[in-house]
Amino acid sequence: MQIKAPRGTYDILPDDAVKWQFAEKTIRRTAERFGYREVRTPVFEHTELFERGVGVTTDIVSKEMYTFKDRSQRSLTLRPEGTAPCVRAFIEHSLYGGVLPVKWYYLGPMFRYDRPQTGRYRQFQQFGVEVFGSDNPFLDAEVILLLINILSELGLTDYEVHLNSVGCPQCRDAYRHKLIEHIRPVREKLCDDCRVRFEQNPLRVLDCKNETCHLAITGYPVLMDHLCSECREHYEIVQAALRENRVTYIHDDNLVRGLDYYTNTAFEVHIPGIGAQSAVGGGGRYNGLVQECGGPDLPGIGFALGMERLLTALDSREGENTLSRGIPVFVAVMGAELEGTGLKLLQELRQAGIECDKDYNQRSPRAQLKYADKLGARLVVLLGEEEAQKGILSIRDMQSGEQISITATEAVSFIQKKLAESGEENAG
Ligand code: HAM
Repeated sequence: MQIKAPRGTYDILPDDAVKWQFAEKTIRRTAERFGYREVRTPVFEHTELFERGVGVTTDIVSKEMYTFKDRSQRSLTLRPEGTAPCVRAFIEHSLYGGVLPVKWYYLGPMFRYDRPQTGRYRQFQQFGVEVFGSDNPFLDAEVILLLINILSELGLTDYEVHLNSVGCPQCRDAYRHKLIEHIRPVREKLCDDCRVRFEQNPLRVLDCKNETCHLAITGYPVLMDHLCSECREHYEIVQAALRENRVTYIHDDNLVRGLDYYTNTAFEVHIPGIGAQSAVGGGGRYNGLVQECGGPDLPGIGFALGMERLLTALDSREGENTLSRGIPVFVAVMGAELEGTGLKLLQELRQAGIECDKDYNQRSPRAQLKYADKLGARLVVLLGEEEAQKGILSIRDMQSGEQISITATEAVSFIQKKLAESGEENAG
């Protein structure tokens, strides 16, 4: 029986990897420009971290975690998200005692046992940022601006920013009771999930994907009307800062996010054109999380972008596809006895920073030229018996067909110059 990749996972083959590299490079560059530095945490953590951090009543923790016991019977979980691990690392390395705020970004695989469909995988990649140690509302605006800058650097303009404030534990608590009382009489009309969770986590009913749940609770009290004055002021400053930076956003009373740690600002970014899973990113403040995970009472904020959904959005851009990745230089070796000389030349070119390759399957000289063409070579270095004896090389420009002979010692600088002229990235 043929073994396939597990359900909800996929391979990125080299042709697609080019797009990933482009996206990753652009995103890293933009984050660094905003003063963020990269952090890398393990792919698995103690299960308790997510139970405490993300919340036991969330879908992620209650249904979607890849949890297993290791050989010492410890319960470990493949990380379903990156915020709780960052908080753990921030506390573990006592960074709260250093210069604040700490601004981190990460890029890597996350794991959720969800029902796979377009835009939803069991192993997926997130780019995320987390900032610890500042409650400044202008920071909230900066974090959202970073997200938007990333999208525009990638050439994505068709996005919608949804914004809300979910308040602090104090104002939210009073609101929760009101909401529960509103929902209780209609609970029989809710979907199975909401019927179970509305007592513990009534806000989740607001962003249930089930239309019947929405209809059942119409006229529900709105959190925005119950914010305390501090939370309201915080939210107003965030909005004003966004407006000043010409960010168009939609205030969305239903936006509560699916993770328990959020306080105050919560946001999501959607790209409607990419299908049912249109949320390319989401995040918000989590002022209680550091303390919840055993650290001091320090605020935090961040977001994560789903890389697959971003890549889908990139693919659906009109007139797109300038990304392709050929090998700039090919060394055609005219005869088996010159293989060694060919490899030496490759080594020299590679040490000079030039990307190049040769044939390893005994192709004829003609077939090697065809092969070079297939690989997308800009220049082909022809290495024949005569050339080897005279210490010269012939270099053919595959676009113009022009061919010149130069001495072997001049070859590297000549090739570098040619590649630089044609804008090749790997000109050495
Ligand atoms: P999240 O909303 O669960 O937030 O995930 C962020 C993004 O990851 C989503 O908007 C989506 O694009 C992508 N994503 C989530 N699940 C999947 C999946 N199964 N397949 C493909 N893409 C997916 C978080 O994870 C928070 N940690 C974000 C955050 C950081 N909040 C504060 N800091």
